[in-house]
Amino acid sequence: MYYKKLNWPTLDSEQHNELISLVKNSTNSKGIGIWGDFYHHYDLPESIRTWCKENLPITDDYQLVLQRFFNVESIPLHPDINRKENFIYLLSESGPVTRWQKRGVILAEVCVPQYQWFSLDVGTPHEVLGLKDDRIAISIFKTVPINKKSL
Ligand SMILES: [Fe+2]
Repeated sequence: MYYKKLNWPTLDSEQHNELISLVKNSTNSKGIGIWGDFYHHYDLPESIRTWCKENLPITDDYQLVLQRFFNVESIPLHPDINRKENFIYLLSESGPVTRWQKRGVILAEVCVPQYQWFSLDVGTPHEVLGLKDDRIAISIFKTVPINKKSL
């Protein structure tokens, strides 16, 4: 299973607005690795972090970030090197397609809907196509030791 819709509680519209305006107004986001020109992480406000820990079935070893892809039309095919599963909650509009493929064979694809928790298999090579605007999401994950075989 490459993706799964999760019946986890959703945030309310006030929280959605807070997170979107945080991204739009932030001056201290962090570019991530070689994708730093189009992929940034933002600190989640403490109130949202607490809400997630109280309302979602996650343990203390999970990391919670607010992420944004911008100025990019697609995210190239890649496996994440230190994560196997990513819980995502899309705050920007739905539209882009997440697609998994191996050796040229398409394994699955999904258009992640807005305001719905999804589990994504990020250890298998995946790409995101059709980005027309910023892609902003809460991302929750556990890091695992880097898998050198997938590099
Ligand atoms: Fe990824």
